[in-house]
Amino acid sequence: MSAAMAPPVPAASAPGAGTGTPLIEAGDLTVRFGKVTALNGLNLTAPVGQVLAVLGPNGAGKTTFVRSVATLIRPDGGELRVLGLDVVREAAGVRREIGLAGQFAAVEPAMTGRENLEMTARLFGHGRRAARSAAGVVIDQLGLGEVAGRRSATYSGGQRRRLDLGASLVGAPRLLLLDEPTTGLDPAGRREVWEAVRALAASGTGILLTTHYLEEADELADQVVVIDHGRAIAAGTLRELKSRIGLDVIEASVADAALLEDVSQILHQVCGGEPRLDRPARKVTVPAAGGPAELGAAITLLAGAGIVVEEIGLRRPTLDEVFLALTGEHSEGSRP
Ligand SMILES: Nc1ncnc2c1ncn2[C@@H]1O[C@H](COP(=O)(O)OP(=O)(O)OP(=O)(O)O)[C@@H](O)[C@H]1O
Ligand SMILES: [Mg+2]
Repeated sequence: MSAAMAPPVPAASAPGAGTGTPLIEAGDLTVRFGKVTALNGLNLTAPVGQVLAVLGPNGAGKTTFVRSVATLIRPDGGELRVLGLDVVREAAGVRREIGLAGQFAAVEPAMTGRENLEMTARLFGHGRRAARSAAGVVIDQLGLGEVAGRRSATYSGGQRRRLDLGASLVGAPRLLLLDEPTTGLDPAGRREVWEAVRALAASGTGILLTTHYLEEADELADQVVVIDHGRAIAAGTLRELKSRIGLDVIEASVADAALLEDVSQILHQVCGGEPRLDRPARKVTVPAAGGPAELGAAITLLAGAGIVVEEIGLRRPTLDEVFLALTGEHSEGSRP
């Protein structure tokens, strides 16, 4: 999607090169599909040089937002700028700056990875030599060197997804859009894609990704925006979000599920909050505003009552617990 034909611009005059121009800036962004309001006054700002993860339950508006940034949807209201360029009035300029993984990456299985990337580069307007060199750069960036000479039909899921990513990178975009980049991949494939995304981010490519995997945001994102019903309900670093809903959590696990209630009662007595029981995992968790002091008190009381726990400790809340606190609903977590 990033146009290879664009003449090189001196960094100082490149869009968004001035200090302070955000990578993406949405103000009261509204998108409707008939009666459905997919984005309902979305506000968010993503600084340059960062990985922004958009999280939210199914139907929250994540894909709609990505497609709006990609200029594939024309907003019904509000403002949306990419590197300072307006997605409606300066759509062509925006398209020169972005790559959208998956959208135009028609990987041809009978061709090798290298041939696929060269073909995509030619489609972007590169001459033969420039296409070869652009493909080489992307192969290095994504660690595809070992498999680049093989027909892509033989690739694993993770390799294939990286090749998809590669096709969106041949135009050297300044912003890469990834809508659920690892959905459907096994853990190994997911790790491969994460490594590629991290390498891209380290090389200065801005990244906007959506994900259903809480772990993915934890692994990749500098900034997180949580959206729900088309609005941003929280934004910041993961650490900030986690500390905003606050509180450390005491988590205790028992070998015998019959002990869960007793443990839960003691944790309630010490911490005041309502403990959550996870019976299959034989675990109880409770917010612990008092931190280590409450952990100490809980351990003393459990010992006094002769209850043996397998493990007990204090930890930061998980992103799922953050979701629960922000929306009152569980995220769909690792829904593929
Ligand atoms: N082309 C469309 N026509 C009609 N409604 C649409 C269209 N695209 C999205 N919607 C609706 O807009 C809302 C937001 O959808 P969107 O795909 O942006 O959600 P999402 O956060 O990406 O969800 P998911 O996690 O399931 O991918 C949903 O109610 C959806 O049904
Ligand atoms: Mg979606």
